[in-house]
Parts: sequence; C-alpha cells; structure tokens
Amino acid sequence: MQFFETRIVWSIIVGLFIVFSVFWSFPEESEAVVKCPATKPHRPSTFDSHKQTLLRILHSEEFRNASAMKLQAAIRTRTEVYDDDPISVEDDFAYWSKFEKFEHLLRSTFPLFYNKTTLHKVNYHGLVYIWEGSDPSLKPLVLMAHQDTVPVSNITLSQWEHDPFSGDYDGEYVYGRGIADCKDQLIGLLEAAEELIINGFSPRRTVIYSFGFDEEVGGPRNKNAEWLEEKYGKDSMYAVLDEGGINLDTIQGVKMSVPGTAEKGYMDLKIILETPGGHSSIPPKHTSIGIIGEMIVELEKSEFPTYFTEQNPAFWEYVCVAEHSPDMDSSVKKSILRAAHDEKANEIARNYIDVELGKGFVVKSTRALDIISGGVKANALPEYVELTINVRIAMEETVETVVKRIITTIEPVVDKYNLGLAFDLDGHQELKPSKPAGNCLVKVVQAFPPAPLTPTRGNHWNIFSGTILHVYEVVAPDSRGLVVAPGIGSGNTDTKYYWNLTKHIYRYRPGLLPGVYSKEHGINEYIPMDSHLHLIVFYYEYILSVDETDD
Ligand SMILES: *[C@@H]1O[C@H](CO)[C@@H](O)[C@H](O)[C@H]1NC(C)=O
Ligand SMILES: *[C@@H]1O[C@H](CO)[C@@H](O)[C@H](O)[C@H]1NC(C)=O
Ligand SMILES: *[C@@H]1O[C@H](CO)[C@@H](O)[C@H](O)[C@H]1NC(C)=O
Ligand SMILES: *[C@@H]1O[C@H](CO)[C@@H](O)[C@H](O)[C@H]1NC(C)=O
Ligand SMILES: [Zn+2]
Repeated sequence: MQFFETRIVWSIIVGLFIVFSVFWSFPEESEAVVKCPATKPHRPSTFDSHKQTLLRILHSEEFRNASAMKLQAAIRTRTEVYDDDPISVEDDFAYWSKFEKFEHLLRSTFPLFYNKTTLHKVNYHGLVYIWEGSDPSLKPLVLMAHQDTVPVSNITLSQWEHDPFSGDYDGEYVYGRGIADCKDQLIGLLEAAEELIINGFSPRRTVIYSFGFDEEVGGPRNKNAEWLEEKYGKDSMYAVLDEGGINLDTIQGVKMSVPGTAEKGYMDLKIILETPGGHSSIPPKHTSIGIIGEMIVELEKSEFPTYFTEQNPAFWEYVCVAEHSPDMDSSVKKSILRAAHDEKANEIARNYIDVELGKGFVVKSTRALDIISGGVKANALPEYVELTINVRIAMEETVETVVKRIITTIEPVVDKYNLGLAFDLDGHQELKPSKPAGNCLVKVVQAFPPAPLTPTRGNHWNIFSGTILHVYEVVAPDSRGLVVAPGIGSGNTDTKYYWNLTKHIYRYRPGLLPGVYSKEHGINEYIPMDSHLHLIVFYYEYILSVDETDD
C-alpha cells in the first residue's frame, strides 16, 4: 500500500515534469527553429502509360543518336549575338537573318510540334508557339529558352578541342558553343513535345513555348512577354520555366537541386568626373584620374551589408543544407536554423556564408568596377574620366538604397576636392552645386530591382519540385537523398520581362551535372548526352503533371 502510494506520487511528479518540459521546450523549438520545406516525389497519374516512352528516351540508342543529331544541327546553325548588334531588327534584316535560318531548322526538325502549335513571330525573331489546350479556363504554362548564344573569341579558338560550331558528338558528350546555354534546353523542350504528341497527348491546359533571340545581351529586343501580356493579360499564366538555377550539386555533403525562385536586381552605374583641362607642364596636385582613383579605393574598401532573411530564397537553401548536412559544423547548423529569430545566430550564419564559404554574393549586394576610361593625350590634363560599376542588388535592397550607398562612399572624396555632385536616376538631381574645381555625376545607366519571390509553398511548388525528385528517382536511382531547395539567381535571364504574367517563375535546367561544369560561355562548352536525355524526361513529366492539375 505504502509502496503503491509512493509510486503514484512519483508518477505525478514525473508526469508534471514531462508536461512542464513539453510546455517549456515546445514554444522555443517551434518559434526559434525553421525547417527545410519538405518535398515529395510527384509523378503524373498517367505515368504508367508513358513509362515505356520515357525508358526509350533514356535507354534507346536510336533515340540517343537521333537526339544528338538534332543538337548537332542546332550548334551548326550559328546564332551568336554581340553587345553592339543593331538594336532594331529593321535596321539590318540581313544581319538578323541567322535567326530565320534557325527557325527553319526547327520547322524541319519538329514537324509534329509545328503541326500542333501556332507560331507567332514577335519582333521578327522572337518565337512564341501556342499549343492550344482544350480547357480555356486553365492558365497556360510557359516554357522558355533562348535561341542566341555568346560568341567565341577568335583568340581562344585554338584552345577548343572540338570546333565550337561543328557540334561534335563522341557517343558520350556533345560539344559546341551554346550547347549548355541553352540550345540543349530549347531542343529538349521541342523533343519532349514531339514525344508527347507521338504518345497521343493533347493538352487540356495550353502550353506556350517562348524563345527569345538576344538573351545573352540582356534581351532589349525581346517583346515576347509584352506580346503575351497583351494577348492574355496580367497574372494570366500558370507558371513560367526558364534556364538557371543549380540542376544538381553536392553542397556540404548534401545532394541538392536548387532552382532559382528569385533573381537579384541589376544596375549599371557610371561615375563621371569632369575637371578643368590644361597643359600637363603646370598640373594641379591631382588630376581627375587621381581623384577617381581615390574614389575607387573608397569603393573597394566599402562593403555592402549582409542579410540572411526569408526574403532571399537562398535562406531556405542554407536551411536545407544545415538540416541535412553530415559535414557542416554543428554550431553553424544550429545558428542557420535559428537565424530567423535570433540576431546573434543570424550574424553567425551571414558571416559563415560570406567569409567562410566566400559566397558573399548570396547574402549581399555586390559591386564590380568594370570599365574605366579617361584622358586623351600625354601632354593634356584629363578633362573627363568615367568609371562603370556593375551592381547586383540583394533581395532586401532596392535600386535607390544601393545608389545612395555608393554616393555616400564617394562623398568624402567629393568634399575633399571641393567638387560639385549630382546624380541621375529617373531625372537629374543636384546634391552639391557645380564648382570650378570640377563636378562629379553619378549616373544610373540601366537598372531593375530584384525579382519578385516565387512561392515555395503550395501546389505549384510541390508539383515542380516533386517532378525533379521523381525524375531523378527514374533516371538516377543512386541520387536518393536528393534535396530540392529554392535558391537565388545571381544573374538574370529573360524571365525579368515575365514578372507581370505570373508569380510562379522557376529558373531551372535539369541534367546530371552542375551547369558550371559545362563551361557555359567558356572554351570547350559541352554537355553529357545523358543530361540531355534527363532534361527531355523532366519536361515530358512536368508538362503531363501540370496538365492534370486544376490550379
Ligand atoms: C548510333 O551511333 C553510333 C555512332 O555514333 C553508331 O555506332 C550506332 O550504330 C548508332 N546506333 C543506332 C541504333 O543508330
Ligand atoms: C497534322 O495534324 C493533323 C490533325 O491534327 C493530322 O490530320 C495531320 O496528319 C498532321 N500532319 C502531319 C504532317 O503530321
Ligand atoms: C574572327 O575571325 C573571323 C574569320 O577570320 C572573322 O570573320 C571575324 O570577324 C573575327 N571576329 C572578330 C570579333 O574579330
Ligand atoms: C508590368 O506592368 C506594369 C504596370 O502595368 C508596367 O509598368 C511594367 O512595364 C510591366 N513590366 C514588364 C516587365 O512588362
Ligand atoms: Zn542562357
């Protein structure tokens, strides 16, 4: 009896202890620690009836050879673009006719696709194909690629092991300019459509293929999105998928796919310094070149602040790495997982990414001093000097905040030399009146803000990220443990014109290798043929799965 009662008392004490510990620890855990958004493989319900086709794409030598030949033809049909290309197509039809040839190639290579779609040529060489769905109430899916490539510099030509425009294929790899950026993607999209058509698929949801022709020079001639917005209206698309992101990489021991769900902003800015000229035999103590040199020292010394917030999709990338990594230091892990609610932990996380990993561009705005010019003659003082700075704007900042920071950085030099100061961003503004000693102008040449954030919760994301997981299960069973996490694009693609069409914009090219190994824009650009086949399978499945959903 006595013993029994003691047990009851102890049970109550232990029970209370448990209740207390749950209530004490529970709020802390749930408030302070964030979790990597879980993703489950997603496959279309009709997968079984398409499985044979997918296996044929992956394993048939006949398909592989035929596909390689299509890539080869695309590489041989050259489509390089240059920064100084004629801005208007009408100014030089002959120059731009290379894209006419490229379109003819597509027409002859993909007859089934051409038969099922309507092609609209936008600004002459922008290609918009509409594959009409049976249910007009569903928002169309937009699949993108660009037809153009960067050039090959004549100086590096001798270092190419394969002629950059012959599209060599050795059974394993295909080589050539543009094969990785992004003719494989463009051709793969069309191959996926042809295979779907052969298999009897006709869409319920309209599918739109949209190919620009000057992405590599920033896309000033790309009117595809504008055309789509005019035809369909704002927020009229289900999702937009374009190149970008990290298709597959191992980060801190975690196999990751990191599609871009936002892009940093962009700005080209000039600092222009004008000072009185004169003879070099009676120079002032500092010429405009010397003064801008001081500004350069200040600019390079200064740092943009770092951020690690949920506004930046890379926040989730690092949360996922921290959660799954066998390699990452446990105190760093803890800090990353607590960074959303703990200022000290946040600082550790930021420093880790910025300093320890050397990936500052992920957590802050960056600037690169890229062009300098000034002075014309050895015996004349330089009256004019200009410096061009390229800035990539962090998600937490705006065009205005980064311009302001640059002005604040050079201002002490402006004051030291008693110069005037003005800036030009949507209009001229005088900050310090014009001075006889000289004047400094900070001029924004081109700028756009960071891209809106693509949602990474809900059906759209689940189908997209789930398709990645499922495709890897099918094509590479040894990729188990793959984690799909959102990331940030540090560069920009043509999607910057598509912001009004949908908030679901994905920048992702599937494949086996991290894109960076493919030497995009570099010498000996290549892709593994297997990667290309995986890419076709991905598009094939994604089109099917998106077609089924009613979102
Ligand atoms: C595929 O191409 C290789 C050479 O590139 C050739 O040896 C092989 O016979 C071809 N296979 C088929 C099925 O066409
Ligand atoms: C084009 O499609 C139509 C039906 O959609 C079909 O009757 C015709 O045979 C197709 N033509 C070619 C060349 O595939
Ligand atoms: C590179 O060489 C080709 C052939 O010699 C020439 O036509 C082309 O203009 C050169 N390109 C440049 C950028 O110099
Ligand atoms: C999006 O819509 C706004 C408002 O109509 C317009 O000013 C802007 O130019 C559009 N953006 C793009 C990229 O077309
Ligand atoms: Zn590209």
